[in-house]
Amino acid sequence: MATETTICELSNHVGQTVTLRGWLYNSRSSGKLLFLIVRDGTGLCQCVLEKTDANAEMFQQARRLGQESSLAVTGCVRVDERAPGGHELALSDVQVIQAVEGYPITKKAHGVDFLMKHRHLWLRSRRQWAIMRIRSTLVDAIRRFFNDRGFVLIDTPIFAPSAGEGAQTLFEVDYYGEPVYLAQTGQLYVEAALMAHRKVYCFGPTFRAEKSKTRRHLTEFWMVEPEIAFAELDDVIALAEDFVCALVERVLAERRPELELLGRDPAALERITKPFYRLTYGEVVELLRGERVRARFEADLAAARTRVAELQRTIKEKEAERAAPGVKKWKAEKLAREILAAREELAEQEEAVRNIPHHMELAANFEWGSDLGGSDETVIARLHDRPVFVTHYPAACKAFYMKRNADDPRVANCFDLLAPEGYGEIIGASQREDDLAALLERMEEEGLDPTPYQWYLDLRRYGTVPHGGFGLGVERTIAWICGLKHLRETIPFPRMMGRLYP
Ligand code: 4AD
Ligand code: MG
Repeated sequence: MATETTICELSNHVGQTVTLRGWLYNSRSSGKLLFLIVRDGTGLCQCVLEKTDANAEMFQQARRLGQESSLAVTGCVRVDERAPGGHELALSDVQVIQAVEGYPITKKAHGVDFLMKHRHLWLRSRRQWAIMRIRSTLVDAIRRFFNDRGFVLIDTPIFAPSAGEGAQTLFEVDYYGEPVYLAQTGQLYVEAALMAHRKVYCFGPTFRAEKSKTRRHLTEFWMVEPEIAFAELDDVIALAEDFVCALVERVLAERRPELELLGRDPAALERITKPFYRLTYGEVVELLRGERVRARFEADLAAARTRVAELQRTIKEKEAERAAPGVKKWKAEKLAREILAAREELAEQEEAVRNIPHHMELAANFEWGSDLGGSDETVIARLHDRPVFVTHYPAACKAFYMKRNADDPRVANCFDLLAPEGYGEIIGASQREDDLAALLERMEEEGLDPTPYQWYLDLRRYGTVPHGGFGLGVERTIAWICGLKHLRETIPFPRMMGRLYP
């Protein structure tokens, strides 16, 4: 009996005969040789079956197997530097578990919409496999960071009787005839638990009825929210800085092959070291209205225009090549894939050409007092190669629970952390208003009825202390670390406006 093993363990079995169980990823044959690329969840392995007089029937059957057929293969492990994963299996046996025909996701070109509708199958493709492995490591790194530092995990409720963030993004559900909301944040509840444990965090799904389709917004996303007692804004900043560095370090240490597979340049992540940049909101307003931002936008616009012209040319050339007589089928399919990818990028670049002038105008005319928009965050993040803390936003454009600055009461002791390379906000944070009267005043300004918040106000009545914390969005962080343009690939089954299947 051959030992059963997995592809990631093959280096321990060189020269031995082993069995792998998995799925057929790809296959090709050349006369007497059949190459089966098998994936088993831990990696890819090239398996070679040589046709002999004795195995003719098995050879024929294996040759006809379609993509994603499930199977068990047995063979001798050989080192092969050129093979994916560095090993190859010289097959002696192929057992079919299920022969499959017509797997929907083929080597042909597929648009994003088709892939999203087949998300349950798309997860098997290499890029999606790599992203989910990075996600798994990131989530583990998040838990480990806080557990190692003595934080207590507090699981906060999903059914919430009142808003935690803006009332515009609440999902209402019927709770025995009463309207309640899906949690937008666990923060108010971790503040309660904080007074019992000193350092706490919650980590779970949160829900926001975002009213627009953007690449940065999901309606269901995961957020980790630490909260610390006897802390002011600088303590929260220091925690966030250590935390983000630890996450990036862990992914670099454990998921380099996956980053490589995604084409992510590790150098951009290796640069993520302390200290991050720090700008006040006031300084950001100056930047937005100034020359550096204008120049950045102009350079981006010129680059997008050049790229549009390039892509249009490429598409024309490839279409001509595909239509030429006598093109091989595999070549035509390859060209179709390339044309589709070029078309998708072209649509993005054309959108950039349309939008940048508007974004430039928004930045140039930015008025002190409004929250930063997505394009403002992007351009600020484009000007920096490490994350940027933007601190002290006007209190009026942020949540009611943020503490006002003692020296300048127009602003709150808060920050957003912007990820570099244009990724924008990954963390929202603040010191909390710990004074009962000041908190009630802010709630009145926001038109919030204090009745459902009595329990929260109790925290300011019984042993209030300075405290604060932050919320890091898991999907935004993954998009940045993996270098993805859109959040839809960062979570196994994304929920967005207009998308709930599968
Ligand atoms: O800035 P936000 O709204 O902050 C809070 O919810 C606070 N209660 C956190 C705290 O201080 N404990 O959201 C925090 C982060 C954002 O920076 C972003 O990364 C992510 O959550 N986020 C979203 N991610 C995906 N889709 C959405 N619709 C998101 N909205 C926020
Ligand atoms: Mg925010």
